[in-house]
Amino acid sequence: MSRNYQIAPSILSADFAKLGDEVRAVIAAGADLIHFDVMDNHYVPNLTIGPMVCTAIKPHVGNTPIDVHLMVKPVDAVAAEFAKAGASIISFHPEASEHIDRTIGLIREAGCKAGLVFNPATPLSYLDYTIDKLDLILLMSVNPGFGGQKFIDGVLPKIAEVRERIDAAEQRTGRKILLEVDGGIKADNIAKVAAAGADTFVAGSAIYGAPSYANAISSMRAALARI
Ligand code: DX5
Ligand code: ZN
Repeated sequence: MSRNYQIAPSILSADFAKLGDEVRAVIAAGADLIHFDVMDNHYVPNLTIGPMVCTAIKPHVGNTPIDVHLMVKPVDAVAAEFAKAGASIISFHPEASEHIDRTIGLIREAGCKAGLVFNPATPLSYLDYTIDKLDLILLMSVNPGFGGQKFIDGVLPKIAEVRERIDAAEQRTGRKILLEVDGGIKADNIAKVAAAGADTFVAGSAIYGAPSYANAISSMRAALARI
């Protein structure tokens, strides 16, 4: 199966004291997207970065899209701020929004791509009435809140199930939907994530924790090429 695979380094594992350089370095090393994890110490038990930091890195990304993963509750006001701050994709967790359709609508009306995020135990029934408005479906392969956790293998059949739903929706509508997976992805497990049906791979610690970002990304691409 040859897909257009994309690698999205998560800046959660970058050195925040030199974030502009860290973003430039990972793009030079071959990143396709910059994954931007927003945590509020309410929806998830950790606190990270907000729209001001998105505005600050925007001049450093060139044409590389900023892929914002909101782990915040409530969502709507923060999503609107990220659209203004230069995000290309904004994803949120359905449990964190009181009105999921409204949140998707406001992200798209602001000119961004909209994504819905599923925790390992979140049911896919949230796709039933939303898939035709989504640009991206993000499956968590760890429980959200921290980088450096272990990949949960139980998500593999769920990836395959979402792939079927996306293929059916694409055939029906002609619209493209990305299938992104986030958490615990490394060069030695990326192939099985892709084989299950994913096309977009978030990796934080496996890239920013490596001595060479370029080697880390190219070993992931090499594993994908062997599928
Ligand atoms: C977890 C975040 C992930 C995380 C991935 O809540 O959404 O994006 O940074 O980090 P690794 O690749 O280290 O699991
Ligand atoms: Zn993330």
